[in-house]
Amino acid sequence: MAETIFKPGLEGVIAGETTVSAVQQSSLAYRGYNISDLAENATFEEVAHILLHGELPNTAQLTQFNRSLAEFHQLPDAVVDAIRKIPTDVPMMDVLRTGVSMAGHFDPVQGDGETELRRRATWLMTVTAGVVAARYRLINQKEPLAPKPGLSHAQQILYQCLGEEPDDTSARLLDLTLILYAEHEYNASTFATRIVASTMSDMVSGVVTGIGTLKGPLHGGANEAAMEMLSQFNTPEEAETWLRERFAKKEKVMGFGHRVYKNGDHRAHILEAELRKLAIQKNKQNWMDIYDAIKKPMVEEKKIFPNVDYPCGLTYYLLDLPIDMYTPLFVCSRVTGWCAHFIEQATNNRLIRPLSRYVGEENRTVLPIGDR
Ligand SMILES: CC(C)(COP(=O)(O)OP(=O)(O)OC[C@H]1O[C@@H](n2cnc3c(N)ncnc32)[C@H](O)[C@@H]1OP(=O)(O)O)[C@@H](O)C(=O)NCCC(=O)NCCS
Repeated sequence: MAETIFKPGLEGVIAGETTVSAVQQSSLAYRGYNISDLAENATFEEVAHILLHGELPNTAQLTQFNRSLAEFHQLPDAVVDAIRKIPTDVPMMDVLRTGVSMAGHFDPVQGDGETELRRRATWLMTVTAGVVAARYRLINQKEPLAPKPGLSHAQQILYQCLGEEPDDTSARLLDLTLILYAEHEYNASTFATRIVASTMSDMVSGVVTGIGTLKGPLHGGANEAAMEMLSQFNTPEEAETWLRERFAKKEKVMGFGHRVYKNGDHRAHILEAELRKLAIQKNKQNWMDIYDAIKKPMVEEKKIFPNVDYPCGLTYYLLDLPIDMYTPLFVCSRVTGWCAHFIEQATNNRLIRPLSRYVGEENRTVLPIGDR
């Protein structure tokens, strides 16, 4: 038998090969395109095309991709009805998990070849956005809105939630967060999705699994947890006092730290620069003071850097989005990375089935029930 290795949490273990993205201390690239270049020069639709089709689209390919998104944009009525029946206090991530699963029964794409899988991935981009928007409307006692032709994916999400076309700043910043969140190699939810693909199960099951995995506060749920934390404070002093207590209790601070990046998260740098401009534009500098009151000691004293969820929580907050929607918006983006990995796994498959080390009791005897 081949030599076995054991690393708790699979830390440092290469669990597979990929051409979708490369996460390194010094760089992050989607299919070879550096994240800073993408953030500055691409739209989310172009990034989604890169992930799903492997290439930056030319004008004709981008038009075709946008056409596919538009074709799929309307949620089936049965899915809206199902969302309507979910109690209003259920978190949106749970609604999204159910909504995507329900939509899977109305999958408009037939077949499981690579072309069909790419089309199904495009459809799932619209399903995730549609469920988030429908839920937002319904809990605000408003009916879901039909999509408006000609809007970008980010504009469409905000339009279908708010009922009006978003201002340029909101649309641009949502687009940026969608670009930054789209893909991150073998993170927990993507790995979970690849495991689903490796059993030759279906893509909808892969995305539902991804949603369930992303929701945890050690993963995507950290953007909501980070903002819940910041929103407790009225002043930077309050934030710092809280942080010192946290240090004393050796408790984690959400939105900081990363399994791979130990010197800072590239995505956090990019987004934080935009967040600072947004705070000035909105005259909300007080929030940046609180943000920095947590960040400074974390970085200077603990050498633990913000991950992308830290600036993202406050960015969404300053865009007036409800906290419960932050991780679902992450899903609207990461669905592209999950599907790109699903396709990669499904088209060059080997069942993912690691081993475990047994550390329990041995050689026990089943006693008759009266003697236990
Ligand atoms: C993401 C995360 C799970 C990665 O963790 P990891 O690779 O397993 O790192 P560890 O938990 O082993 O952390 C190493 C050390 O840094 C500390 N640390 C890591 N993240 C920390 C945080 N957010 N706050 C305070 N301390 C932290 C750990 O307590 C540990 O300290 P120790 O060596 O004294 O025990 C972890 O950083 C975390 O829980 N962060 C908060 C949640 C979050 O923001 N998740 C989004 C990730 S993109």
